[in-house]
Amino acid sequence: MATIAVTGAASGIGAATRRALERGGHRVIGVDLRDAEVIADLAVPAGRTSAIDAVGAAAGGRLDGLVVCAGVGPQVQPWSTIVSLNYFGAEALLVGLRPALAAGERPAAVAVSSNSATIPGMETPLVDACLAGNEEEARRLADGLDGQRTYAGSKLALARWVRRQAPHPAWAGAGVRLNAVAPGAVMTPLLQQGLDDPHYGPAIRNFPIPLGAFGTAEQIAAAIAFLLGPEAAFCCGSVLFVDGGTDAMMRPDTY
Ligand code: NAI
Repeated sequence: MATIAVTGAASGIGAATRRALERGGHRVIGVDLRDAEVIADLAVPAGRTSAIDAVGAAAGGRLDGLVVCAGVGPQVQPWSTIVSLNYFGAEALLVGLRPALAAGERPAAVAVSSNSATIPGMETPLVDACLAGNEEEARRLADGLDGQRTYAGSKLALARWVRRQAPHPAWAGAGVRLNAVAPGAVMTPLLQQGLDDPHYGPAIRNFPIPLGAFGTAEQIAAAIAFLLGPEAAFCCGSVLFVDGGTDAMMRPDTY
């Protein structure tokens, strides 16, 4: 039985991940604003610190897995909240819990990015501010940008952070595999809020999905469980697109 922390475990993809891991016989330490073992606001530094301490204590200092899934969608205002939670909240938990992972059994971490990160035009100075660790500047840039580019920029930075860190001695060298999933549109409360939004709703409905329908939280949870598990023992720094073919359709010649 592995002990795995999951942020955003109260809803959507995080909740489906919890269910999949518990079905596999694992112990999950959920972190969320509500309905979780650890209640914390990951959009603010104090909440991140208390979450890291509480997860570390609950896991007895040895964590076998971590999924950073908590996030909000592009319609959430102020937009600075999006970058604070989706990038800085995720990065802080990965960094803060890495020592506990290094002490775990066959440890692995998975970050939840998004296929929106690869939409043309999403590369803005916000991405660099995130990767420079400058939250104040990233928040300032976000509030002058818009929800879509803030959301996609936060997810692009997160995937890029994963690719930069995964091969390092602190991660791969310490036996901790770090990977990401990049979901497409998945039917959860977050997507529903986007669909209900007069600005984002039409854009989401018009976004092409070659397989023809929104994904389910369970489909993303299965990919996360794979990346955490022994069958992914050679995966390191991968960004696994699970998006019904959208990214392949939009960027066929990327590879
Ligand atoms: P959801 O809204 O169902 O779940 C998000 C969870 O994060 C909720 O339980 C919520 O309470 C928690 N949360 C929100 N703010 C928080 C905070 N400040 N501190 C701690 N927890 C907080 O959303 P969903 O769709 O399951 O999203 C999960 C992740 O997947 C997010 O990072 C999202 O950006 C990403 N994603 C979702 C897609 C979709 O179409 N649903 C597509 C691509 C990525």
